[in-house]
Formats: sequence, C-alpha cells, structure tokens
Amino acid sequence: CGIVGYIGQQDAKEILLKGLEKLEYRGYDSAGIALQNGNTVHVFKEKGRIADLRAIVSEEVHASTGIGHTRWATHGVPSKGNAHPHQSASGRFTLVHNGVIENYYLLQQEYLSDVELRSETDTEIIVQLVEKFVNEGLSTKEAFRKTLTLLIGSYALALLDTEDDSTIYVAKNKSPLLVGVGDGFNVVASDAMAMIQVTNQYIELMDKEMVIVAKDNIVIEDLNGNQMTRDSYTAAIDASDIEKGTYPHYMLKEIDEQPLVMRKIIQAYQDINGQLTIDSDITAAMKDADRVYIVACGTSYHAGLVGKQLIEKLAKIPVEVHVASEFSYNMPLLSEKPLFIFISQSGETADSRSVLVNVKKLGYKALTITNVPGSTLSREADYTLLLHAGPEIAVASTKAYTAQIAVLSILASVTAKAKGVAQDFDLVHELGIVANAMEVLCDSKEEIEQIAYEYLTVTRNCFFIGRSLDNYVGLEGALKLKEISYIQAEGFAGGELKHGTIALIEEGTPVIALATQKNVNLSIRGNVKEVTARGANPCIISMKGLETDEDRFIIPEVHELLTPLISVVPLQLIAYYAALHRDCDVDKPRNLAKSVTVE
Ligand code: G6P
Repeated sequence: CGIVGYIGQQDAKEILLKGLEKLEYRGYDSAGIALQNGNTVHVFKEKGRIADLRAIVSEEVHASTGIGHTRWATHGVPSKGNAHPHQSASGRFTLVHNGVIENYYLLQQEYLSDVELRSETDTEIIVQLVEKFVNEGLSTKEAFRKTLTLLIGSYALALLDTEDDSTIYVAKNKSPLLVGVGDGFNVVASDAMAMIQVTNQYIELMDKEMVIVAKDNIVIEDLNGNQMTRDSYTAAIDASDIEKGTYPHYMLKEIDEQPLVMRKIIQAYQDINGQLTIDSDITAAMKDADRVYIVACGTSYHAGLVGKQLIEKLAKIPVEVHVASEFSYNMPLLSEKPLFIFISQSGETADSRSVLVNVKKLGYKALTITNVPGSTLSREADYTLLLHAGPEIAVASTKAYTAQIAVLSILASVTAKAKGVAQDFDLVHELGIVANAMEVLCDSKEEIEQIAYEYLTVTRNCFFIGRSLDNYVGLEGALKLKEISYIQAEGFAGGELKHGTIALIEEGTPVIALATQKNVNLSIRGNVKEVTARGANPCIISMKGLETDEDRFIIPEVHELLTPLISVVPLQLIAYYAALHRDCDVDKPRNLAKSVTVE
C-alpha cells in the first residue's frame, strides 16, 4: 500500500492524486483521498485504480490539507468499503494506514466493544481508538500517542482531525514513511518518488516515532514525548526517470535499460585505476565469514541463487540461499561466523526485514544489496551495496534482477581478490561484453515476440527447464510469465522433470529449455528429447558456440558464469509479449504489488 499527505496553500487534490499515481506500483486494488477544508472532511474512495478514483473525486471540492491511500488488500477484500481513508464513528477523525495491526481483534474486544465498525479492516480500529481516547478527555495528539503505544504490528499512518485543519498526525513502525519539506507546505509519502514533483527534501522517520506536520513546521517525537531533531536529505530522483516516455509500458522501458544499467554498475564500482572495488569493510566481512546466508523474496531470491554460484565459484565461500518468509519462522542451524546478505530491489520487503531484525538481535553482520539508498533494509544493515538501476516501476522486476546479479558478481570477484584466490578473467571486460550482448537482445524484439506468439497465445501452461545456472534463470523466466500473463508456468532442473512433473506434459505443451552451460549441454538436450517424445513443443534457447540446428533462439556468447544476465532477457521479453497478446495489464498484474511491506 502507499500513503500520501499534503498540508499547505495549494489545492491538495491534484497533488495527492498525482502522488498516488506514482505510488500505484505499491498496490492498486482500491484507493481513496480525504480533503479537509476548515472543519469539513470530504472522503472519496473507489475500488480499482487511481484513474477510477480520479473519476469520482468532485471537481467542486478544494482543500489545502489532505491524505490519500492506494491499497493492496490484506485484511478484507478489495472493495470501496474496505478502501482507505477510514473514519471514526462521529466522522471527526480520518485515517490512512499501510501495514498490518496484529492485535486488532484484541484491541477491538478490549476497547471498542460498544462501537459499531463499518469495515473489515484493522485500520478502522486505530481511528476508532483515537476517537475513544479523545472522548475520554485526551487531546488529539495524546490520544494518537496512546493509540500508538497499544498497536502491535506494522504501520505507516496519517491522521486528520476535522477540528484542526492545520495538522496532519503521522506515525511509523516497520512500514516505510517519509516527511517531505517544502516552502510553505509539507508532505507525507511512502516513497519520495510520489512527491518528487513538489519537493526533493525529505526527513527519514524511525520506527515508533510520531510526527506533527503543519504547513510550516514539523515536530518529531518518540512515543514518550521526547522531541527529536533530524536534518532533511536531498532525494536524488530525476523526475524523468519515473516517466514512461515513448514506451507503451514501464516493463519494456526497464528491459531496454539493462545495457545502460550494466555500464552504470561497472562505472560505480570502478576505482580511478579502472579496478573493481567495494568498501573494504564489506570485503573484510566477507573474508571473515565461514558461510554466507542470502535472504530474499521473489525475483531477488532468484538473483540470490545465481549469487550463490558466483560467490562459491569465485570467492570460495559456502553460501546458502533462503526465502525470507521461511527463514523468519524456521531459522536453519547457523554456522559459527555467518554473514547475511539481503537482496531487495525496494529495500522495504517486510519478510526480508523481519529476518534482518532477528539476525541483528543475534549480533550478526548484514549487508543489503538494494536499489534504494536510505531504504529500511539499507539503513538497518551494517553495509549496503547499491544497484544503480534507477527507479523500477513495473511490478515485474527486470533490470533490478540483472543489476543484482552484476553487483553480486562484483562482490564475489572483489572478495576473491582480497582473499588471494586466482581468477582467470577480467570482470570489467566481461560485464562490458554482457552490456553489448544485452543490446543485441533488446534489438531482437520482433523475433522474440514471434516466439511468444507461437508458443504462448493459447496455452494454459508452460515449463522452463535448465541445468545449473540455467535452472535458476528458468525459475525467473517462469515467475515473469506467470506474474504478468497468468499462464501457469513452472521452472525445473532439467534432470528433475522426469521424476514427476513430466506427467503434466501433453500434446503441444510448451517447454522452454535453456542451453547456455557447456558442461551440461548434452544432458539438457537429452531432457528436451524426453519431453518431445511425450508431445511437448520445445523451444530451445542456447548460446553461441553451443548451438545446434534444433535451437529456436541463440543468445550472444558471454562468460559462462555471467550467462544469467543474458539468457533472462529473452525470457523477460517472452513474458512481456505473451502478456500483451493475452491483453493483460503488463505493468500492473492482478493481485500483485511491487513493494510488499506486510509479512
Ligand atoms: C514483490 C514483487 C516481486 C519482488 C518481491 C521482492 O512480491 O511483486 O516482483 O521480487 O516483492 O521485492 P524486493 O523489493 O525485496 O526485491
């Protein structure tokens, strides 16, 4: 979910709606805004996209204070009733919330048994509690503070009081929230991107802080009432980076940006002599570790699988890769000197953060690899390596995945050097070759579209197979395809299919096989034969130098350890065109959100 707020002199409505449009990647199943004019608050909410909300917001209402929300449903189905903002029984208080209140039911039983609730959300409990405490005699600020002390869970909150249009009450715990500083106005946003049009000055908020935001004043307090002082920072987002330009979809734009991102990464990690370099504290931590634990979700987890191979092969450190949501509740037996690496495009994923909090409590060191400087995972880890990929807006991750692998390769290579492990290739040179190869692939869109059209227009499922690194890329290819085209897609290790899943192969079932690894080239081709004999429609994507006549698409040759950076590009494009041919919403697939800040 995403939150915005504005207090100042201009018309809040347009600023809030534009802000919500920029936050739509965080959730888009319903949205709402509250506009406060003197002692009156007008609430507009609608199921669906921000465009649907925009259509019902009255032209007549003008206000210089307001809050807004775009939702990814957790408690309660996506509906107008469950959309935010939520109001207290008398209508005096209006609230937007991102996160999950774990003890909402207990709070309701204990404090609100006499209040008739209007929604199924945990959020309504918060706003009703504030009203209850105000009715009992507390000021709004004190009632807000008291409510915060009762909440267990994650929240980013913005609250309006009809009796005071000069204040927005804001608080945060575990969910991201920033206060933006303007001249004669101030704003609130889950992500600086939402409000970059009006200000580039932001103040970070820490967990369990509340903020009293007026148009020319910002007061940050902890829950004991102690005031905090904190400087603002300049958010380095170029407004043009977050526009689609001439592209029909962000996803296509972001796929095309990959060669440039590779070059930016090479540059960012080179010293003045052209040698790859990273902070020596990070290499020291790597050298010191007897085992690396990579923790991530979704696409970032898939990048982690590739990272394992890179770190093990180059730096000779054993690596385990874990899905964050599993790790948090079922921690494996750890080695004596573990180092944790969190991979997260957004740096905000709650599942990953929950693991980070736990391992920090145990006293272990953690490195975050993220695209967002200043994000929660970056702030809370000991070290950060940035992806330099620029804002990624399409829900299906593309350039962040390849950036993560490139940065992991640099981490592995620099660590190897620091450890004195010999390397027989020049990574800067090899990543340059990768960037060029990516360009060739981005120029092959017509051919790849044809593959998507032929194999995936009518099918209900699709399998991806590969061995070794190709297996991991297949998992990512399958994830991309299911995320945006809704075709049931699964990735398998080539040799594993015959142990069960081959039962699903029917006449014409598409099987996309990757063949970029020399040592398993023959065996993966054997697996293709097995499925073909059972009626599958195989599509072999191989690499120059390993190709045969039966191959459907051949990618340019790159270093064997870096093939995932290249082989994923046709898979991203296949998913894109499959979704397009099926009339799916490429950038905003159903049920998903880009940044999932709830566990
Ligand atoms: C969400 C997104 C995925 C993403 C995952 C991890 O589920 O829909 O595309 O891979 O979160 O996100 P992160 O920002 O931590 O990489």
